[in-house]
Amino acid sequence: MKVLKTKNEVATYINAILGQNKTVGFVPTMGALHQGHLHLVRQAQEENDVAIASIFVNPTQFNNPEDLKKYPRMPLEDMELLKEVGCDAVFIPEVSEMYAPDELGLNFDIGNLAKVMEGEFRPGHFQGVITIVHKLFDIVKPTTAYLGEKDFQQLAVIRFMAAKLHPHIKIVGSPTVRETDGLAMSSRNLRLTPEERNTVPVIYKSLKDAVKWKHQFSVEEVKNKVINQINAIQPFKVEYFDIVDSTTLQSISNWNDSDNLRACIAVLTSTVRLIDNIAL
Ligand code: PAJ
Repeated sequence: MKVLKTKNEVATYINAILGQNKTVGFVPTMGALHQGHLHLVRQAQEENDVAIASIFVNPTQFNNPEDLKKYPRMPLEDMELLKEVGCDAVFIPEVSEMYAPDELGLNFDIGNLAKVMEGEFRPGHFQGVITIVHKLFDIVKPTTAYLGEKDFQQLAVIRFMAAKLHPHIKIVGSPTVRETDGLAMSSRNLRLTPEERNTVPVIYKSLKDAVKWKHQFSVEEVKNKVINQINAIQPFKVEYFDIVDSTTLQSISNWNDSDNLRACIAVLTSTVRLIDNIAL
């Protein structure tokens, strides 16, 4: 596996590949890789001539400095895992390679997509995501980029940005990979206390309950039942639980307001903030 640290190294590597008319599948990540990430890399590799991943803990998307500081960093283990799944190259730049000193990042109009849910609770987060993904797309020039449905709103926001700024890049959303007890795999799971790790599957269980409850209860009732079920377990606190149209991400109030619904949730534990979602 090629380890590329600078934009110039990536350019040399990618230009040679694109010059041979080969396709490039790209998986951007922030590292601390788990099976969710590796599934995306395998998919990129199966569907393209070359698979490239990036590992970069992007400072501009962290609205909470403590979260940025505590974000797990384990580049050597990550590179080993990427090598094992047959990734062809990894781009692993320093912050100074991606940002000029004091650079503020893009101010791209994402409209209503970024005003709800994560956008409401993590101000500036999606501008940071868009800034880095736009830069990475410019550098890596992928044919197709692979992103997880785990971050459902991020996927929608990146699709929106790519349609405007990178219309030739195909964006593929891939289903969430879960632990056997249903917990969505996430680098942040490493920070759960052992007690929280035991009870946290209530999040996905409640999302599955919402799918069942849809046939019996109103939108408002389902929302309350999910929130109450999770908040009943100490120290969990639902930050938001919303039922939205999958494309516009706007809240619905009646089941027939949209025929493509997604239930999205963010939960605070004592140590970490987790998100998940399910198709309804
Ligand atoms: P990160 O959280 O490392 O996730 C990288 C990619 O893996 C994202 O597309 C995410 O949705 C996907 N992913 C994470 N957990 C997953 C799971 N359990 N199943 C399937 N896919 C999963 O998301 C980011 O990094 C950053 O915001 C990034 C896009 C790299 C920009 O900095």
